[in-house]
Amino acid sequence: MAKLIGSRKKKIAVFISGKGSNLKNLIKHSLKKNSYFEITLVISNNPKAKGLEYAKKFFIKRKIINYKNVNIAEKNILEEVKKNKIELICLAGFMKILSSDLIKKFKGRIINIHPSLLPKYKGLNTHQRAIDGKEKYSGCTVHYVNSKLDSGKIILQKKVKILKLDTCKKLAKKILKQEHILYPRALKKVLINL
Ligand code: GRF
Repeated sequence: MAKLIGSRKKKIAVFISGKGSNLKNLIKHSLKKNSYFEITLVISNNPKAKGLEYAKKFFIKRKIINYKNVNIAEKNILEEVKKNKIELICLAGFMKILSSDLIKKFKGRIINIHPSLLPKYKGLNTHQRAIDGKEKYSGCTVHYVNSKLDSGKIILQKKVKILKLDTCKKLAKKILKQEHILYPRALKKVLINL
């Protein structure tokens, strides 16, 4: 931690596609007195993402990336990330898969939050699949992004008990609450070593 005290805040970009509750939570953390990061860029592939409203409210630069052509989309992403001197990319509900080329260019500097206890339940519909799989626990994981989906090195995880009466919606709500605790913690862990 000592390394961060007194040093400048690290510049973070958050990539979103929808609701943006994790973004909202990270913004809240970034505004704390002793915060170790600032969010200077929000990227969304979806112009209607609700999360963009939070970015606007806090005067954070927003960039909508048109994904009709993936190569052009990624060229634009890279340009924005470089232009804004971004040190770490945080994916938070970003529904596009980044190419291994882009990941290589930003090696070790892209992290993601996933709503399951990885390596279990990579991909989509994690809550329903965990319930159907009769799991006792699910949870959330913050991990580095590598070229395989939801497979990079785990940074932090939080377990959440699945109760008999939990529906997919109930479980999603419980896990999201934990995501909001886990992501800032994981971010701190990553930034200390950056
Ligand atoms: C979260 O559950 C996150 O784990 C997953 O997508 C969801 C995004 O939620 N990758 P929000 O947009 O941050 O509210």
